[in-house]
This record gives sequence, C-alpha cells and structure tokens, in this order.
Amino acid sequence: MSTKDDVLDILKKNSDREMSGQQIADALGVSRAAVWKAVTALRDEGFEIEAATKRGYVLRGGADDLSVSEVRRCLPEKYREINLEVKKSVDSTNTRLKAAAAGGAPSESVLIALTQTAGRGRQGRSFYSPPHTGLYMSILLRPEGDVSEAQLATIRAAVAVRRALFTAAGVESEIKWVNDVYYKKKKVCGILTEAAMDFESGGVDYLVTGIGINCTTKESQFPEEMRDVAGSVELHGASRAQLAAAVISEFLKLQSTPRRELIDEYRRHSMIIGKKISFERGGITYTALAADINESGNLVVRFPDGSEQTLNSGEVHILKDFLKE
Ligand code: BTN
Repeated sequence: MSTKDDVLDILKKNSDREMSGQQIADALGVSRAAVWKAVTALRDEGFEIEAATKRGYVLRGGADDLSVSEVRRCLPEKYREINLEVKKSVDSTNTRLKAAAAGGAPSESVLIALTQTAGRGRQGRSFYSPPHTGLYMSILLRPEGDVSEAQLATIRAAVAVRRALFTAAGVESEIKWVNDVYYKKKKVCGILTEAAMDFESGGVDYLVTGIGINCTTKESQFPEEMRDVAGSVELHGASRAQLAAAVISEFLKLQSTPRRELIDEYRRHSMIIGKKISFERGGITYTALAADINESGNLVVRFPDGSEQTLNSGEVHILKDFLKE
C-alpha cells in the first residue's frame, strides 16, 4: 500500500475525530510533508477531507469511495497491482489515457474519472458524464495483432460490463451491437475503443477502451434529448468501486478467452439477433433482419429477398415494435 492508501485507511478508521498531521505521520513513520502530499492527492481524487486549524484532518465524505484504494481493494488479488488512477475531473479519460500510452504507459493501465468535461462517444458525439452518478473509465492494452483487435476489444468490453453488472449488482443487461449495453430497454453504457497503429510492423501499438456507465443518473437529470434512449442501471447497494473493479477484472480475464467462446457469450446476450433493424449506408436507410453475429464480431443482416450483408461498423436501430418484445 502507498502512503496515500495508508493515510486514507487511518482517516477512515478515525472518521469520528480529527487526526493531526503529526499523529498520522507518527503512526505511519513518515514525514508530515508526506502526509500533506497524500491528503492533497486524496482530495484530488474526490475525497472530502476537512482540515481544522491546529486540530487536524477528518474525512467527511469520499466520492462514494470511488478511489484508487477502494477499487484496488475490490479487485481480485491477481489484478491488484495494475497501474490505476482515479481523477476528480478530466476532459476525457480516453484522451488522457491515449496521451499516457503515447508517453509509454504500460499495458493494463486504467484511468477512472469522477466526471468528464468533454466525454467522447462514437461518431464524434459527446458522452454525458455528470459527477457522482456515473462510472467513466478507460483501459489501455498493448495487444499483439492487427486493427481487428479494436472491434474485439469493444466486444470484450461489452461482455465484461454485462458480466460485471450481474456479479456486482445482480442486474441482467443486454448488448446492442456493437458497443452499447442496455438495461430495461434503455442504454446504460457506451463503449469507445480507439487504436493507435504501429506503421512499421503494421500491428496495433495500443488500444484504449473507454467505458461509460450511467449508475444512478435519474431520468430528469439527463439532457432532454437523451431521455428516450438513455437510462441508468440499478446498483442494488453495490458501490461504483465494486462495479469498476468487476469491469476491470472481467475485461482483463476476457483477454485470454478464446474468440469463439467470447463471441458465443456476446451472441447469447445480444438484444438484436432475430429483430428487425434499420441502418444507414451511403445516405440510404435499409430495413433488414439482424440474423447473426459472425466470428469476427460483424453483424450479418438479411434482407426481405433473402440476400445477406455483413456490417462491420456503424449504428443500427431496432424498429420500435421489435424493441417492445
Ligand atoms: C458511445 O456511446 O458512443 C460511446 C461512449 C463512450 C464513453 C466513455 S466514458 C469513458 C471514456 N472516455 C470518453 O471520453 N469516452 C469513453
């Protein structure tokens, strides 16, 4: 554990009284300056630590404990040492983690933010990221392989979120090809994977997979234009730290799951297979049946004349009557 984790631990255990910097320093065998540095870092993560003059520090509230220490505590032993950061506010965790990746950050680095001021979605859209009520995180990987890894990363993330919602909160969700997770017919999670290529080898240099989950945002809190589509999951007492840890560990576990098993699980929880959908290509809107998801994670659609087409990207819409089923 770092000094920061140790300081947090002491503040938590003494949440009913003030602890002076000297008392904490003595208990940990570190300097008062080190305690001050740790307190500053904890505040930066969103912990409310009050400092009463001459009396000391007291923990008043803790970003509902979405902190590095709390997420680490909830992670299985195997993943406890990953490079993990929680920031109070960033523009976009994907943007920040891509910059860190370009600067050499290791594979399996994770960045979580309590809020994003410029959260990004697919196709240049923004991702609504209010404080306190959502989980916004990005995971960096440096996989072997070509650009098809990016699509697979999104698929792994969708399966990981579905599993995590079930294990952490007991919630059964569904996946909408290719990158959305739905609960009670509302979109509760969006995923954005961004890749950087290594032009010399033709392989992937790194992938950053961003995951945004609406945890407790109320319908009235969403911007009006989102209310038809966006919703929140029900955490049933689970904390965002537990959810974050479950998503991270499921996502990392899935890196070694054979592709066939991964796609099978994705298919089993798909909310669009067998449904009538519409999609746009070259300015024309088509209606078709979502027939299958193939081994590459592409969507196979069947037209009324029986012909089939494979879509590897883009947005599809489930036709309203089919969404109700
Ligand atoms: C979408 O629904 O179009 C994808 C949304 C992805 C949002 C997440 S939140 C964490 C990460 N940081 C971002 O800026 N975007 C992703």
